[in-house]
Amino acid sequence: MTDATNAPQLERFLTRDQIQQRVEELGAEISREFSGRTVVLVAVLKGATIFLADLARAISLDCAFDFINVASYGSNQKSSGAVRLVRNLEQKIEGKNVLLVEDILDTGVTLGYLKNLLLTQQPAILKTVTLLDKPSRRLQNFEADYVGFTIPDRFVVGYGMDANERYRNLPDIYFVPSDIQEK
Ligand code: PRP
Repeated sequence: MTDATNAPQLERFLTRDQIQQRVEELGAEISREFSGRTVVLVAVLKGATIFLADLARAISLDCAFDFINVASYGSNQKSSGAVRLVRNLEQKIEGKNVLLVEDILDTGVTLGYLKNLLLTQQPAILKTVTLLDKPSRRLQNFEADYVGFTIPDRFVVGYGMDANERYRNLPDIYFVPSDIQEK
């Protein structure tokens, strides 16, 4: 089992049990609202992969998986509001029921861009779920349909989320001190 003993400066924020309980609740809610339908779960690489794995198993519907990814233009910051597609879906989603799966909703740039992009393919239903929501950081108006936890403006890692590609495999979610943050 991975732990954070090599990163004692991390401050635990959400335990794996808290996360799992909330993911089960989200899965049940999504299963009720999409009842009787097949759903394409679209995870945004890479951070949402762990959440996808747990959420999919908490959803009692016929599901397909797909993956999509964007990158920021220029610097590594999204504050310019400009992102570009670096990996598109493998499948056509016209007429399908789609759930975009994110680990964290921050400025809103990524989900705003991806929602608009997927809507051009005319899915029957397009909803968004994010495990974490930082509304105080929003640069674009965006509200996810399903939110796991609303969190303060602190940098978080674990459960798929990274600091310079580290810590994605930690089962819990941690706050990171500002000196080792990297986005
Ligand atoms: C993170 C996160 C979201 C996005 C949210 O991805 O996984 O995709 O940022 O930020 P926004 O609301 O400000 O657009 P990141 O670019 O860190 O890539 P990663 O998922 O590969 O870690």
